[in-house]
Amino acid sequence: MRSFIAGLPKAELHLHIEGTFEPELMFAIAKRNGIDLPYDSVGALKAAYDFSDLRDFLNLYYQGMSVLRQEQDFTDLTWAYLERARADNVRHAEIFFDPQGHTQRGVSFETALDGIWHALERGERELGLSSKLIMCFLRDLPESDAERTLDRALAHKNRIAGVGLDSAEVGHPPSKFERVFARARGEGFLCVAHAGEEGPADYVREALDLLRVARIDHGNRALDDEGLIARLVRDRVPLTVCPLSNLRLRVVDEAKAHPLKTMLDKGLVATVNSDDPAYFGGYVNDNYIAMQEALGLTRDEIATLARNSFEAAFLSRTEKDAHLARLDGAVAAL
Ligand code: ADE
Ligand code: ZN
Repeated sequence: MRSFIAGLPKAELHLHIEGTFEPELMFAIAKRNGIDLPYDSVGALKAAYDFSDLRDFLNLYYQGMSVLRQEQDFTDLTWAYLERARADNVRHAEIFFDPQGHTQRGVSFETALDGIWHALERGERELGLSSKLIMCFLRDLPESDAERTLDRALAHKNRIAGVGLDSAEVGHPPSKFERVFARARGEGFLCVAHAGEEGPADYVREALDLLRVARIDHGNRALDDEGLIARLVRDRVPLTVCPLSNLRLRVVDEAKAHPLKTMLDKGLVATVNSDDPAYFGGYVNDNYIAMQEALGLTRDEIATLARNSFEAAFLSRTEKDAHLARLDGAVAAL
């Protein structure tokens, strides 16, 4: 099964580039920028990755990204992810970045964007890994801050495909961002949002009704609401599920209790993704493997998850069909 999973071409649709910051690279970049991390060693930093919930994780995540100062830092971070993802047979990635996490501390929007972009172009050229960039608004900041971030993005529409919503969920419902999402949609940005990770099923409804998102990031708590499930199935709204993240952030108690198989059984368009792999103990194939082993997923179910990843991607029908044909070929050969 491991070689079957490894051999399948796949798309990754829920990946925060700042969450791919491996401790070794973090220490190297901190040193080159003359920044002291509050840990003596890579081992001491890794030992701190024992999270009680999303907020607890986010504190370390924002601390980690604070060593990113120069354009080259963003390029190195992104390149490391692309090489790692290609090793997992990721052929297309839709990548989040958090501009406010950088502009808040004096790093310009363009420093982050240009740095990430250089690596994405190289990834397409040298690794054959296509990508799209989605900028997320931090939901624990005011909507006015998101509006300013959208203003900055307007000059870069050629490089930013969509907008998303992330950071601390509870107490920051999608409704808080209805106006900025309406403007982003009007400007032609695709829309997604984290919803139903720690927040209730109602936040998933709001993301659909008020933000008009094309996908739900996570969406676990949608399972609390039968009417909502029926709607997500009927409208084929994809869920970008992140199993190891759910375990490490205690959204789910143990791997065997993960709802991924239930989602598939109910007919939801579930996909498997790594979220913040440097913090949660595994890249995308590790997420597939963990779920296969815990839930006893069959080859057909694994292939369905890979197929869903391309169906749910922001690609044209022609591009999806080309990926799906290669996937079918791999399924038959493995
Ligand atoms: N930012 C990075 N990872 C996140 C997650 N899993 N949920 C919300 N915000 C995030
Ligand atoms: Zn996420």
